[in-house]
Amino acid sequence: MKTILITGGAGFIGSNFIYYMVEQHPDYKLINLDALTYAGNLENLKDVPDSANYTFIKGDIRDRELVDRIFNEYDITNVINFAAESHVDRSIEEPEIFLTTNIIGTQVLLDAAKKHWKVKPDDKYDREYKNDVKFFQVSTDEVYGDLGPTGLFTEETNLAPNSPYSASKTSADLLVRAYHVTYGMPMNITRCSNNYGSYQFPEKLIPLMLNNCINEKPLPVYGDGMQIRDWLHVYDHCSAIDTVLHEGRDGEVYNIGGNNEIANIEIVKLIINALGKSEDLITYVKDRPGHDRRYAIDNTKITTELGWKPSYTFEEGIRETINWYLENQTWMQNIVSGDYMKYYTDMYSKT
Ligand code: NAD
Ligand code: TYD
Repeated sequence: MKTILITGGAGFIGSNFIYYMVEQHPDYKLINLDALTYAGNLENLKDVPDSANYTFIKGDIRDRELVDRIFNEYDITNVINFAAESHVDRSIEEPEIFLTTNIIGTQVLLDAAKKHWKVKPDDKYDREYKNDVKFFQVSTDEVYGDLGPTGLFTEETNLAPNSPYSASKTSADLLVRAYHVTYGMPMNITRCSNNYGSYQFPEKLIPLMLNNCINEKPLPVYGDGMQIRDWLHVYDHCSAIDTVLHEGRDGEVYNIGGNNEIANIEIVKLIINALGKSEDLITYVKDRPGHDRRYAIDNTKITTELGWKPSYTFEEGIRETINWYLENQTWMQNIVSGDYMKYYTDMYSKT
């Protein structure tokens, strides 16, 4: 039986992953450690059934004492580290918190895992770990940097991050790798392309454009809008993580993507058309500094070695996502009005 420490489980992908796991593995215990930064929202998790083997702990992955206590108390068998500062534009404004959360936070988790999982934690030459433990780092294709007009990212592509966000995620990947090589830490790293789906914070392209479009506000397209991302439905990211958690070979990196390259401007126009609005809403704005032009994933390793494949086409996924945002406008309004901040402050003033 697994007891999984899911960090960042109140964010976009983490909350989708918790729903996924409750359904797929109802016997697993899930401990969600989340600091509830601006991006964490307990409303995302309100439909997790009471009966689920699920515990929420408000706290910071950089808090060594707390992380250590969680390992002791719950006998953690796996860490799946989603917790991160995740937005490139914010990293350009304020890089430091990206370094402390994404790098130091990962190292704190690795240290706790090493202490609790090593059979002889004080013997640096001993590499034996308890059975079935694994550290899982949720990383991003952005660690590979800018692809140029042709080619695909493989797991062997050089790491060449261009933003403070991607540099911090790359550093975390290298630390996880170093703990594997030096201390024998059982681990996998996954590098996924851009996700879309329900509960994504409206600072990211698709929910931002949806929200603005619904409210007939200008749609800010960076530069010429011809930057390309390889979009994957969040459910398919979750199923890929599940696959690697159970089947991934120790120490391996797996890229995750659905062969779905689309230019930003095409997505913006698709949203406008789906909502029956005018393309006059499109407003070209100054480009993001250091903006990567193109990302695209070669998913051969995970599809051939582990048999994973995405279940959504982009057409199905984006239709479902647009409907979700239309049906959940209160969720969006609570975030953009700042009410959700009040929600979780109120909630914790009671505990
Ligand atoms: P998100 O910003 O929506 O959620 C991040 C979560 O982490 C939030 O709930 C936040 O409260 C929590 N958090 C932040 N700092 C913390 C800290 N110090 N301690 C504890 N919790 C903290 O991000 P997301 O889009 O769900 O991304 C999750 C992970 O997946 C990230 O590691 C990101 O790099 C990676 N990823 C994201 C995408 C994507 O398209 N969104 C693609 C590939 C990989
Ligand atoms: P984003 O969702 O921030 O993801 P990432 O930068 O991690 O890929 O942005 C996706 C693409 O959309 C990226 O090329 C930047 C662009 N973009 C805009 O053109 N306008 C916007 O307002 C935002 C948020 C993003």
